[in-house]
Amino acid sequence: MKRVKIIDKEFEISIPSSEIQNIIFRLADKMNNDLRAKKVIFLGILNGSFMFAGDLFKKIDIDCQITFLKVASYVGTSSSGNVKRLIGLNEDIKDQVVVILEDIVDTGITLDNIIKQLKGYEPSEIRVATLLFKPEAYQKEIKIDYIGKEIPNDFIVGYGLDYNGFGRNLEDIYTLV
Ligand code: IMP
Ligand code: MG
Repeated sequence: MKRVKIIDKEFEISIPSSEIQNIIFRLADKMNNDLRAKKVIFLGILNGSFMFAGDLFKKIDIDCQITFLKVASYVGTSSSGNVKRLIGLNEDIKDQVVVILEDIVDTGITLDNIIKQLKGYEPSEIRVATLLFKPEAYQKEIKIDYIGKEIPNDFIVGYGLDYNGFGRNLEDIYTLV
């Protein structure tokens, strides 16, 4: 098993890059079919989703926009539940279909907070896409429209996801040993 050490912790490979790309291909195909006739703006949640958003967006073939916003909820390897406000939403999302792009939905607290704030901008619809989903950790009722892969409740890094800021550059996804 391919292993990496990040700061003080050992991780082993759990989702190789080829599998990530297959997942993204499937998600993009579904989105292209579902969203073709709509006015769509993708909304990547920074920092974690930047690789997912970039690879996914290359496979989207409908007329649409993309923008990014920033929140933060994680310190170390467990959710702090302390979600900050949205930073950086300058585009007009009124009357548009907003597709939130998350790297991972864990407790769902971040997502819940983002959606509550986005509703104030009066989009016509809010959809949610996440590369990864931890069903055992999820505490909310919000429907997730596009789920790349369900994973166990373990801490992971790579492909945009970090451990204390490091490990985002890894091409594959790794699980804490
Ligand atoms: P939630 O609010 O608990 O759903 O957590 C959402 C955010 O926490 C995600 O967007 C990630 O940035 C981060 N996060 C959740 N699980 C992990 C993980 O296993 N590794 C790294 N970051 C994570
Ligand atoms: Mg995130």
